[in-house]
Amino acid sequence: MKDDIQKVDSLEKLQELYTATFGKNGTMTAKLKTMATLSNEERAVLNNENTELRQLFKQKQTELENAALNAKLATEAVDVTLDVEPENKGTLHPLTWALKEIAAILESFGYTLWTGPEVEDDWHNFTALNTPEYHPARDMQDSFFFENGNVMRTQTSSIQIRAMEKLGAPIKMFGIGSTYRKEMDATHSPMFHQIEGLYVDKNVTMSDLIGTLRALLSKFFEKEIEIRIRPSYFPFTEPSVEFDMKWEGGKWLEMGGAGMVHPNVLRNCKIDPEKYQGFAFGFGWDRLAMLKYGLTDLRPFYDGDVRWLKNNGF
Ligand code: DAH
Repeated sequence: MKDDIQKVDSLEKLQELYTATFGKNGTMTAKLKTMATLSNEERAVLNNENTELRQLFKQKQTELENAALNAKLATEAVDVTLDVEPENKGTLHPLTWALKEIAAILESFGYTLWTGPEVEDDWHNFTALNTPEYHPARDMQDSFFFENGNVMRTQTSSIQIRAMEKLGAPIKMFGIGSTYRKEMDATHSPMFHQIEGLYVDKNVTMSDLIGTLRALLSKFFEKEIEIRIRPSYFPFTEPSVEFDMKWEGGKWLEMGGAGMVHPNVLRNCKIDPEKYQGFAFGFGWDRLAMLKYGLTDLRPFYDGDVRWLKNNGF
């Protein structure tokens, strides 16, 4: 009997054997029924046998249950050291990366981030920026107009107007966003992005502007950047400049426009130009990202081709 229990190799068979032993018609049950007819010694022997068999059944059951559990663990085990197929996770777009860096730098200089509408009215995109209707400077920006006179924002300069109208002076803000013009080639897209900075206070000067641009670009490119300004013309600044930065191989790259905010622009925003003056600057955020990441063509930024993004390490 003991051997029979030892030999059992499954829980079902053990159950069967248990029933055959201790069940209603089991062998042990039959024996136990004779208890009353036995002598004291015989009873003791039977009692021992009874206890021993029950223990053996219990032991065997535990043994088989453990074996079953171990077998299950072995087949369901996960090898955490195994290489897995890399998951295709999304990442931020390179333009977003570049923007996050620029924004962090400008915020560290005390500038506050602003946005504005992309469909802009004439006042904010042109007139308040000292570019009234029939002003020849409107031709500098080939624009998409709506029949009601609204325009797809051609420049983020419109955001500085909105900010000054709302907060007055002193003010230190930057605006970011998409801008639209009718142009298209390797370095121009009908939709592109600009960053605009504005600082108006009592003693803001041109040298503050140059220092700010130099510090901003040096931080962004993580090296000392040399800046050069050239006289230029924008209706909303006087004097106006364009600024270049010295790049690899000593080449000067044109970066953007800037200047001292024109008194008319301040007046249009109800700021007294006798009390306040300031500088403004604007440049292409796409171009900044292209230079940072060593790209020569602007268009793939907008193609949404995941292979291109991957090949360029994004
Ligand atoms: N809005 C100009 C453009 O799109 C760039 C610019 C020039 C912005 C001078 C400025 C500025 O704020 O002061 O070409």
